Amino acid sequence: MRHNRHYLRALLLLLGGGALLLLIRGFLIPKSFNEYGFYRGDNVEEQMNKPTRFAAKEACAACHEDIWKKHQKGSHAKVQCQNCHAPLSVHVNLETGDFVDKMPINKSSKLCLRCHLQLPSRPKTQPQIDVETHISRTAPTAPPRSDEVCLTCHTPHDPKIKRQHGM
Ligand code: HEC
Ligand code: HEC
Ligand code: HEC
Ligand code: HEC
Repeated sequence: MRHNRHYLRALLLLLGGGALLLLIRGFLIPKSFNEYGFYRGDNVEEQMNKPTRFAAKEACAACHEDIWKKHQKGSHAKVQCQNCHAPLSVHVNLETGDFVDKMPINKSSKLCLRCHLQLPSRPKTQPQIDVETHISRTAPTAPPRSDEVCLTCHTPHDPKIKRQHGM
């Protein structure tokens, strides 16, 4: 009979510990948790209220008509301006339309190779190059190998070069 008291103590300790854990859990779990699913419901509203950074892809056309037209006719028509430059909000205030700051220009071959570097996992439909063979094959005398080398032959807003004889 006297041994039962050990069990009782252990049981009380377990119950007490459990209650304490539940109490702490109550403090730690945010109120909106599980409102919609296994996440904080308030997060949905927080994400929705973030300031808009990107504009519709046509947004640049209003002020850069010439480049827009050239770009729409070229093989980069599907590559958005903001993809190579930056979100419009860097450049123009999306609410007032006021000028904010210069739009960045990235002339580095790194930009082009982000999409055009030959990779086994890339779909074949995406034009890909191996830089060394590409440049030595296309240039009779290799252009200086600067970081901006792609722009010595391609223009970013209409990059396709017609295949010539002997290439
Ligand atoms: C409300 C008009 C307006 C819109 C919309 C606009 N721009 Fe511009 N942009 C300008 C003006 C004005 C300049 C010239 C600023 C200067 O030379 O300081 C300029 C200059 C630029 C430059 C050159 C920056 C430099 O350093 O020479 C780039 C690149 C550019 N814009 C890209 C874009 C892109 C991409 C978009 C769309 C995402 C866009 N712009 C939308 C007004 C606009
Ligand atoms: C594939 C990447 C790429 C895309 C897409 C792109 N640009 Fe550019 N843009 C560049 C690069 C690189 C330069 C610098 C070119 C140079 O100096 O030779 C540039 C230069 C510019 C300039 C400076 C003036 C000039 O003619 O060099 C403006 C303005 C501009 N881009 C606007 C736009 C707009 C508007 C769009 C969409 C219609 C667009 N760009 C799409 C890469 C891109
Ligand atoms: C965001 C991805 C992206 C970036 C960055 C990009 N391109 Fe492209 N480029 C494409 C896609 C996609 C196509 C094919 C479009 C199609 O077939 O409709 C293409 C097409 C081309 C073509 C034409 C290929 C052909 O034979 O039809 C050339 C050349 C080219 N890009 C060069 C460049 C150069 C140079 C740069 C850097 C200034 C660059 N690209 C940056 C995605 C990109
Ligand atoms: C010396 C000139 C030259 C330079 C530099 C150059 N290219 Fe090209 N590129 C060409 C020519 C010419 C073609 C079209 C004929 C061909 O593919 O043989 C071409 C075609 C392409 C194509 C289409 C290939 C395909 O299979 O459809 C892509 C993509 C491309 N270049 C990207 C780039 C990138 C990215 C750079 C910078 C790392 C670059 N080029 C540098 C001349 C050049």
